[in-house]
Amino acid sequence: MKEKIDFSNLGFNYIKTDYRYISYWRDGQWDEGTLTEDNTLHIGESSPCLHYGQQCFEGLKAYATKNGGVSFFRIQENAKRLQSSCQRLLMPEISIEKFIAACESVVKANLDYLPPYGSGGTLYIRPMLIGIGNSIAVKPADEYLFTVFCMPVGPYFKDGLSPVNFMVSDFDRAAANGTGQQKVGGNYAASMIAHEIAVKKGFADCIYLDPTTHTKIEEVGAANFFGITKDNRFITPVSSSILPSITKYSLLYLAEHYLSMQVSEEDVYIDELDKFVEAGACGTAAVITPIGGILHHDHLHVFHSETEVGPVVKKLYDTLTAIQTGDLEAPEGWIRPIS
Ligand code: PLP
Ligand code: COI
Repeated sequence: MKEKIDFSNLGFNYIKTDYRYISYWRDGQWDEGTLTEDNTLHIGESSPCLHYGQQCFEGLKAYATKNGGVSFFRIQENAKRLQSSCQRLLMPEISIEKFIAACESVVKANLDYLPPYGSGGTLYIRPMLIGIGNSIAVKPADEYLFTVFCMPVGPYFKDGLSPVNFMVSDFDRAAANGTGQQKVGGNYAASMIAHEIAVKKGFADCIYLDPTTHTKIEEVGAANFFGITKDNRFITPVSSSILPSITKYSLLYLAEHYLSMQVSEEDVYIDELDKFVEAGACGTAAVITPIGGILHHDHLHVFHSETEVGPVVKKLYDTLTAIQTGDLEAPEGWIRPIS
């Protein structure tokens, strides 16, 4: 199978790799965990993750570097965000050390699947933690399973750095005081219908508005939103119901410190899109996807262009990806080589 992979033409699809890590929490503690070739989970029919959505996950990537190495980008931040999701859903946390060791062991065991430097592909890593065991009441599980698997991927939105259009959805993906800030499956289940409607209408995905007033941009289904103003400011929404994107916080830093832009997290009103000359969606899977236009109330607001990436979004993309692949010096602590 791996011999047949065309690393330069990958989509964002599941590919079974050789090994995954699996660890169980029983009697109040995590076991050592082990690598296995079996990609099927064997769990009880009454597992709380299946009925009540007691599960959370992460998404990060391993990058091949020019000198033949492999690195993680800000992996500690993914480990901390998984802990935040665990706290919200009353699940036992994974230590940062265990999280990193598990991801590292999975990458090392599947190095044949790492897309080479310059191919445009990366190795996407999916850690996941689920409540299992025998329980039928609505309460936290008494056993848990933590697994990490990986696969080579290309761009999440099919055209990579070409602009895509989004439409504003009438649905909410998360409640104001719900689980929008955590990476939990329920948020994504709630978003599938809005995504499907958008795709059927010819859009790449949808934009959610804030669940309380429906006047402010929240985020895209699988990425955060940012806009560039006429006076070259980088602005991204602030909200208690969006996922704190590690890519977004990285871009806030890079825009300010590498590109000397003014940056802020603030309310972004859907009827004030005119102030942006460029816009983008950012995330681990999406990297940076330029937004051509956003449809709202039958009006398509076009930012820079529906076909060409704008100069600032391009510069942000080049800076971010050069740091991820080790071509540009990263801020301290962002890159963790896999030994
Ligand atoms: N928002 C949502 C809903 C996501 O699923 C993701 C992906 O993880 C992001 C934003 C981007 O977050 P990050 O940059 O940490 O990958
Ligand atoms: C990611 O960017 O890692 C995501 O999790 C987005 C999506 C595939 C759920």
